[in-house]
Amino acid sequence: MSCRMDRLLFLILAQLLTTATCGTDPDSESEESDEGDMPDHWTYKDQDWSKGYKLCKENSQSPINIDTSKTTFNNKLPLIIPEGYNIPETEQLELSNNGHTVKLSLPDSMSISHGFTQKYLANQLHFHWGSATSSGSEHTVDGVQYAAEMHVVHFAAKYGNLIEAAQKADGLAVLGVLFQVGAQDNKNYNPIFDKLQDIAAEDANVYIPGFDISTLLPDQLYRYFRYDGSLTTPPCFQTVTWTVFNETVQISQAQLDKLETSLKAAHGTLDSNFRHVQPLNRRTVFASFSPLPTSRRIVPNIDSNAPSEATKSVDDDFTLGDMLAALFGILFGCTALAFVIYVIRQRKRQRSSTERGQKVIYKPAATMEA
Ligand SMILES: *[C@@H]1O[C@H](CO)[C@@H](O)[C@H](O)[C@H]1NC(C)=O
Ligand SMILES: [Zn+2]
Repeated sequence: MSCRMDRLLFLILAQLLTTATCGTDPDSESEESDEGDMPDHWTYKDQDWSKGYKLCKENSQSPINIDTSKTTFNNKLPLIIPEGYNIPETEQLELSNNGHTVKLSLPDSMSISHGFTQKYLANQLHFHWGSATSSGSEHTVDGVQYAAEMHVVHFAAKYGNLIEAAQKADGLAVLGVLFQVGAQDNKNYNPIFDKLQDIAAEDANVYIPGFDISTLLPDQLYRYFRYDGSLTTPPCFQTVTWTVFNETVQISQAQLDKLETSLKAAHGTLDSNFRHVQPLNRRTVFASFSPLPTSRRIVPNIDSNAPSEATKSVDDDFTLGDMLAALFGILFGCTALAFVIYVIRQRKRQRSSTERGQKVIYKPAATMEA
């Protein structure tokens, strides 16, 4: 009886461990599904996950579309400094196909704290991708979905481990990197991409020698978006401090093809493993950098899948308020200036007309209508 309870508790914890990482999953624990206790048969095809995991329909879900015209510049968001990311070759890192993604396990000697309010230790990184015919990033920027996306998952050091941290409001920090296709192979990714064919089968794993994980990140670690969100897989815990870098990383088409076609899952090729964007609701997306002074461009949504859900947020109100205030300020300034000029001219005219008789032709100040 209590033995059964213990077993259930263990299964729940085991599930948390594999899923609390925004790209891993409970399905891969096939022993677990055999128990029949868990509603854990979620897929990317049917993303109505809230039936089994009710958090998945809460208000602070990830991923989101980042509308750059609505982000709030925050000058207290400094450069992200990856620490201990250069893993010695003597250390072996597990690379595995868990049926939902390719996952590289990372040692907790890797950490980030600069750019955060506390220290976070690394646990794993994984990828989301599309297919030959569609892009596959999870976050979109101004409605644009990028080729693929990498997530480097960290947990708050103070909670000791991922399972514990995953359910705490400030428990997780994930770095998101968006990929674009470029002309060159990105050699920094070879340690991972060269091994994909060896983990084609679901649950397969290999070990690869340590390398410098920071080379997988973009160069400009001071340009990023920051918001509070969730795991992008069930159980969708809303405990992730998201950092999505503004600079993309380039990989070649051949590398992207490898990512999209190498892995197999239960139902064939493991592809299109991205969650659709979720409503922003009343959240603010912060930017660590001030936007280029191109003012507010009106850019149509290029991607018809793109959500226009970045509806009414607190941020919107501020922006609109600010704009109105500025507009009225300028109007008032112009009117006051015009009035002063008008008064001065009137005085001059009066003076000159009294001095030189009736030669004055009155003309309303045409500049005001122009
Ligand atoms: C980077 O930021 C600029 C300026 O806000 C924006 O136009 C661009 O779409 C962003 N790109 C990404 C991938 O975030
Ligand atoms: Zn992920």
